[in-house]
Amino acid sequence: MSKGLFITVEGPEGAGKSTILTELYNRLLQEGFNVIQTREPGGISIAEQIREVILNTGNTEMDKRTEALLYAAARRQHLVEKVIPALEEGKIVICDRFIDSSLAYQGNARGIGMEEVMDINQFAIEDKMPDLTLYFDIDPEEGLKRIAKHNGREVNRLDLESVDFHTRVREGYQKLIKQYPDRIQVIDASQSKEAVFGDAYGIVTDYLNK
Ligand SMILES: Nc1ncnc2c1ncn2[C@@H]1O[C@H](COP(=O)(O)OP(=O)(O)O)[C@@H](O)[C@H]1O
Ligand SMILES: [Mg+2]
Repeated sequence: MSKGLFITVEGPEGAGKSTILTELYNRLLQEGFNVIQTREPGGISIAEQIREVILNTGNTEMDKRTEALLYAAARRQHLVEKVIPALEEGKIVICDRFIDSSLAYQGNARGIGMEEVMDINQFAIEDKMPDLTLYFDIDPEEGLKRIAKHNGREVNRLDLESVDFHTRVREGYQKLIKQYPDRIQVIDASQSKEAVFGDAYGIVTDYLNK
């Protein structure tokens, strides 16, 4: 049994996940918690290599099930190589995206079906679901505008999808919130960075004090 705490951060592109995750990590570190931050797909060499294949803008012929399997493969490797060992050492692991992303993006938005995507992911994770998930809720157009405004960040293959695609991603997440009301906590990500951080930090500290 793992003793740590597995927190995932979810939501559309430009919602502020990476920004707030880093702030959360720094705050928890300052407070003396044993915490690591990581991201999906990636976080370790094999998964980062798979990430390059998935997000490469040149791979326009990528089949949607291939994409789903690649994400699941990267997830498995990241989980067994990095996340589970850290949890076994009692650490708090904060991970940028996890299984809900596959369910919302490949399952709902690409139309494979959330149950089918859950099946291949179950093979990959063997029941290791997050303890707590922070869902950053924002109008997908607002998120994309934030990214467009910010020149420093690379544009990846999924950013180039239509607003319609990103709307279906949000619908997928909404189904998950209904399905996992205890695990997934919704944060209004359209607020200022300070307010979003305050909400995220409040949810995590409440969980830690439970
Ligand atoms: N609450 C916010 N209000 C306005 N801009 C934000 C907010 N949070 C993040 N940003 C900016 O939006 C852009 C995308 O943020 P990022 O954290 O990379 O999003 P994500 O990881 O969810 O794709 C960055 O330029 C970031 O500085
Ligand atoms: Mg990010």
